[in-house]
Amino acid sequence: MGRRAIYPGSFDPITMGHIDIIERSARLFDEVVVAVLLNVEKKPMFSPEERVEIISSINRWDNVSVDTFEGLLVHYAVEQNAQVIVRGIRAVSDYEYELQMALMNRRLEPSVETVFLMAGEAYSYLSSRLIKEVFKLGGSIEGLVPDPVERLMRDKLK
Ligand SMILES: Nc1ncnc2c1ncn2[C@@H]1O[C@H](COP(=O)(O)OP(=O)(O)O)[C@@H](O)[C@H]1O
Ligand SMILES: [Mg+2]
Repeated sequence: MGRRAIYPGSFDPITMGHIDIIERSARLFDEVVVAVLLNVEKKPMFSPEERVEIISSINRWDNVSVDTFEGLLVHYAVEQNAQVIVRGIRAVSDYEYELQMALMNRRLEPSVETVFLMAGEAYSYLSSRLIKEVFKLGGSIEGLVPDPVERLMRDKLK
């Protein structure tokens, strides 16, 4: 049986940091499901459907698929027959929250292991939130998101 990993997140929008983590996950695991969390942010830039479409359009890996989920992540992982949850860690600041989530998820579902990956250092400071903030204020985000994403962001501001 192959190893299947879930990479969950908001991905509003997907950044080069996310893509770096997907790339590393696709090399480590037989299958990776990028799972967009539904119904959390009140005012997202892109709807979950748009985010799925964006991620699918830049999906260059044979073993990566895109999906949405709601409710408990571990329930979704079990439903998907996944053994692994992938999360990205940037700075120490991510660690505390991610540790809490990982340990709670382990308690809820001991069969699912959380694996943390670090993006390349060039992307280690990137977050969707910061990119949106800079972009809305007119700063350049070239190279921080895929080109099609930047174009779609520009359309959103119009
Ligand atoms: N630049 C980055 N480098 C490494 N990991 C990242 C980066 N940006 C986001 N991540 C990770 O990707 C995952 C999804 O992030 P995000 O879309 O912000 O969703 P969430 O709402 O779950 O934080 C999280 O594990 C986050 O830490
Ligand atoms: Mg986040």
